[in-house]
Amino acid sequence: MAKYKMLFLVSLLIGIASLHAQDPAIQKRVNDLLKQMTLEEKIGQLNQYSGKAVTGPASNQKTNLQEEIRNGWVGSMLNVKGVKDTKEVQALAMQSRLKIPLLFGLDVIHGYETIAPIPLAEAASWDLDAIKASAQLAAKEAAAKGIHWTFAPMVDIARDPRWGRIMEGAGEDPYWGSLIATARVKGFQGEQLGDTLSIMACAKHFAAYGAAIAGRDYNPVDMSEVELWQTYLPPFKAAAEAGVATFMNSFNTLNGIPATGNDYLQRTILKGKWNYKGFVVSDWNSIGEMLNWGYAKDTADAALKAIVAGSDMDMEGRNYRRKLVQLVKDNKVAIKLVDDAVKRILYKKFELGLFDDPNRFSNEAREERVINDRANRLVVRDMARKSIVLLKNASLPGQEDGLLPLSINTKTIAIIGPAAKAKRDMAGSWTVNTDSTTFVSFYEGFAARYDNSKLLYAKGGTVNASSEAEIQEAVATAGKADIVLLAVGETWDMSGESKSRADIHLPGDQEKLFSALQQTGKPIIVVIMAGRPLIFNSIADKANSIVYTWWLGSEAGNAIADVLLGDYNPAGKLPSTFPRSMGQIPLFYNHLNTGRPYTGTKENPKNKLYLSAYIDEDNTPRYAFGYGLSYTKFAYSDLKLSKTSINNKDSIVVTFKLTNTGKYAGEEVAQLYLRDEVASIVRPVKELKDFAKVKLGAGESREIRFTINKEKLSFYNKQLEWVTEPGMFQLMVGTASDNIKLKSSFELIK
Ligand code: GLC
Repeated sequence: MAKYKMLFLVSLLIGIASLHAQDPAIQKRVNDLLKQMTLEEKIGQLNQYSGKAVTGPASNQKTNLQEEIRNGWVGSMLNVKGVKDTKEVQALAMQSRLKIPLLFGLDVIHGYETIAPIPLAEAASWDLDAIKASAQLAAKEAAAKGIHWTFAPMVDIARDPRWGRIMEGAGEDPYWGSLIATARVKGFQGEQLGDTLSIMACAKHFAAYGAAIAGRDYNPVDMSEVELWQTYLPPFKAAAEAGVATFMNSFNTLNGIPATGNDYLQRTILKGKWNYKGFVVSDWNSIGEMLNWGYAKDTADAALKAIVAGSDMDMEGRNYRRKLVQLVKDNKVAIKLVDDAVKRILYKKFELGLFDDPNRFSNEAREERVINDRANRLVVRDMARKSIVLLKNASLPGQEDGLLPLSINTKTIAIIGPAAKAKRDMAGSWTVNTDSTTFVSFYEGFAARYDNSKLLYAKGGTVNASSEAEIQEAVATAGKADIVLLAVGETWDMSGESKSRADIHLPGDQEKLFSALQQTGKPIIVVIMAGRPLIFNSIADKANSIVYTWWLGSEAGNAIADVLLGDYNPAGKLPSTFPRSMGQIPLFYNHLNTGRPYTGTKENPKNKLYLSAYIDEDNTPRYAFGYGLSYTKFAYSDLKLSKTSINNKDSIVVTFKLTNTGKYAGEEVAQLYLRDEVASIVRPVKELKDFAKVKLGAGESREIRFTINKEKLSFYNKQLEWVTEPGMFQLMVGTASDNIKLKSSFELIK
């Protein structure tokens, strides 16, 4: 065993070293080229324009893009896509003096042509292979469309569901978010950048954008450095260690300093402590927005503060384009700062092989072949099924099993609701493909598998409103059925960038529609399609079954039908907490205990007086982080620890038995949580430290193993050192963060 440990350690060290080591041959080519460049041509590389579409505040400058590119003033374009357009625009760059190729960037957040579930949905799958495969497909299709670089993965930890961009990330947990960041970077970039199936990835938005005050997009962020390091930086660190080619900074301030002008973030941490060798692109004119923040007095001041702070490329801001030449000539900005930024960018262009063949990603035959490959839809259908979370599945009176899965063609089913036939909404926000004819609606997916003579339909209004007549029509339709499938949720433009909501209840009259249908006495299965956690208490209390499908992409309807009809036993677990009420937000599982912990629950309330509690609401969530049901049941038993005291060079092997005690084969995500009971800085009541997604046949048992090592016991102390401290640890194994099945404890001696 010692030999393997040594082998692992050596390969790990080589791996880490190689992550930041650069290819000397490429470095030479970069330096040789840099020597030939004028100051203007250098600054041109730091300049990125948007072509063809505008994804942010419209640039108010009239720019002759073609002339700018021909004159070497542009290093990258975003929103230019497709072989024809990328070839056309790259040809302009080939007319520049040094023929430096352009980088083509695009927001390929969850698929290009074949749309995958939104990232928050994928995070509910707890399936890193599937998440990586989803990113690989997105990269393959984007690369076939001439794209070199995606502005993904978004790795912002988010604890506030009022923030619309929670849909783009991996939820609230740093451990799970770090694993997903790694999987997505590897998926987009492959093992080694440079083949035409992979594209550069971009860890964004650096940093702590998800902690915008009040969940309002673009708002300030204020937090302790310990919180920053403990909660918000880990996924970025993981992405850097995974070799992510670029970072994107963020619109927010961090403790009063805009991220794009924040040398603590971009120089001290990223390029310093983490020794990061890629480059940082600003978010859309985040540099220019420092004037609005009152951090820069004019564009020249903004350009100066940004380049000094380590922002290498200016996205759609023209701040560097207009002011950096003079700043260098006036000796206000050292040329070495410009050179460093230029070298980082040129290095990536060489690494992608663009100097050898500027059009190597723009190939008509490959575009045709890759984009029309029907096999792509199987990848996103698999991802979609795995992303679905079963929140409730009550049995009918007198029956043992839950209402789901539905047996095929046995009942008359009424499919009702504004989301039932929705198609564009299935792709959610940040989709490249907006051709909704390519997206399978819930109704289409179900009707393709069910006897249509037994299917009824009523829309019941829109997501925003239902008239009394629409509700009555839906009630009448339900009255003719045996079971109601109610499809509700958000429209695609209710979550995403610039989509903060002050109220995250199910929008419009959808709960009113549910209540009216409930009066019919028919069993109701509710399917909720949304980009974020929502509040829907009457449905949660009274529906028979609830399936949370998020926005599942191109194959949404087929994947939902797979689950409802039992072809796939759902195994999704929530990556974000679902609150009971707005007043609880922010509500997250890895919270501190307080000096006056309230331990009551909704079901078992206790005296709250002088305890940390609300007089009008419970502390517990409606659905907890890590929660999700299955059509079968799992039992946890026989917890064993190889040791109950260790030093920090040692490790503990934890084993327990997991048994499928139900009638269906199924997958369980068993979660390992630890609590550091006493430390030099207060530690959370529990933290996810490992998990196992296990497939078991009906009646099957298996021994599951976790290993606890120093890494899992470490945390950032007051001095921001990554340390362990001696003391007792509680160990918890559960099926959700609020449903612990096995407990033990151990001591770290030193
Ligand atoms: C947007 C987003 C960022 C995106 C960029 C380019 O404002 O904040 O995530 O990558 O602009 O579209």
